[in-house]
Amino acid sequence: MTKKDLTIGMLGFGTVGSGVATMIRDNEKELTQRLGVTVKIGKIVVRDLDKDRGTDFDGDKLCTSVSEVINDPSIDVIVEVMGGIEEAREAIEQALSAGKPVITANKDLMALHGHSLLRLAHDNSCDLYYEASVAGGIPIIRTLEDGLASDRISGIMGIVNGTTNYILTKMKEENWSYEEALSKAQALGFAESDPTSDVEGLDAARKMAILASLAFSMEVELEDVAVNGMTAITTEDLQLAEQFGYSVKMLGFAERDQDGIDVSVEPVFLTSSHPLASVRNEYNAVYIYGDAVGETMFYGPGAGSMPTATSVVSDILAACRNLLLGVGGMRSHDAMNPRLIKGEAEQHAQFFHRLLVRDEIGVFSELTSIYSRHHASLGSIIQRPGEKAGEAEVILITHSLSRKNHQSIISDLQSSGSVKEIISQYRVEGGVRA
Ligand code: NAP
Ligand code: HSE
Repeated sequence: MTKKDLTIGMLGFGTVGSGVATMIRDNEKELTQRLGVTVKIGKIVVRDLDKDRGTDFDGDKLCTSVSEVINDPSIDVIVEVMGGIEEAREAIEQALSAGKPVITANKDLMALHGHSLLRLAHDNSCDLYYEASVAGGIPIIRTLEDGLASDRISGIMGIVNGTTNYILTKMKEENWSYEEALSKAQALGFAESDPTSDVEGLDAARKMAILASLAFSMEVELEDVAVNGMTAITTEDLQLAEQFGYSVKMLGFAERDQDGIDVSVEPVFLTSSHPLASVRNEYNAVYIYGDAVGETMFYGPGAGSMPTATSVVSDILAACRNLLLGVGGMRSHDAMNPRLIKGEAEQHAQFFHRLLVRDEIGVFSELTSIYSRHHASLGSIIQRPGEKAGEAEVILITHSLSRKNHQSIISDLQSSGSVKEIISQYRVEGGVRA
């Protein structure tokens, strides 16, 4: 391709899209120097032409037709930052089929249809880059694809949702209510348009499916990720965790051994000395364990306009560079390993249980018999007085056991006459791998 200025067609001009436009304008000199040609925005698709968008951009670029932008011969590269699934998927398929490289920040779409879209991109000799879809401003996809390409990854553990980490930080450190913290996260542009996907863990599950697919070279599907949300976490849980030397964090896990892989997202009691425990506010961090490299950790802002735009614009540079060199779509995305997801009997973790029990003779022996019946050995047991006479609170931390056995313990506790309530239960983590 002869060198000429390259023109971007943007689909979406919200939190991320406006950040991308700002960065392309403000960093024009640096981008031109790095690429050798200038990148400019040609057209921008929005839903509502009448929305007040301030005065800081050229309103003539706005339109409402996705096809008009994709089919415009002056547009070289498409940037999809409108979100949603079906319309975004159609738009990306249309762009790739027309031979135009695509950059997307859309984890909802990549988690569901990423494998087929990447194949389509390859078949059309086009790039499909999606760095911003996981962990906002942290270049984690590039790290897995390039930086750690030489190694065998055995595990990933990370805070990959900025909204939930922001909420947990504000609830713990500033005593904000859950509702207050969520509405501030929405106002700051961290949350999804429907924040249910943040707080119920689905957004993090999508990101973990994307990371696990890359790390294990396997077509991991969204349905393979076990998900538990954060809506049941109370301020009392946060305080209790602190008393026991833990911090409550929403963590994503992707682990691999000879039996297969195990991917999950859940609220976790994380040892306070663990580096992930000090990740605050909307920041994300991803721990990657490689057989050769050992432990690595990547940290940065996980959401928000400019951090996310940094990833999108870096992808634009990569796609433009490949376009200029005529090497678009050369990366193979074929999975090397068959999809092998562990069952509950093969997934292991430690657990924290807080129980409200009858304060009577024999209760302890019934409890311990439930745990031992399901092969759970106990690391700690603490009893403290309950709020009412005749009741006690028992806190137990297990050693590692299978999720199947854990489920059986929970169901036996629920049907036990000694246990009045399972007040809370959490996975426990914190052992940094040697
Ligand atoms: P947003 O603020 O809601 O902006 C969406 C933009 O897309 C708006 O400009 C909207 O038009 C336009 N749009 C939506 N549906 C459209 C349609 N059917 N046709 C035409 N235009 C349409 O969303 P966002 O926060 O920027 O997120 C965009 C994408 O980036 C999502 O996939 C999100 O998951 C991902 N992402 C977001 C963040 C973050 O921190 N926000 C971080 C990483 C990834 P109007 O302006 O007219 O409404
Ligand atoms: N809602 C997402 C988050 C945006 O809070 O992490 C970044 O993907």
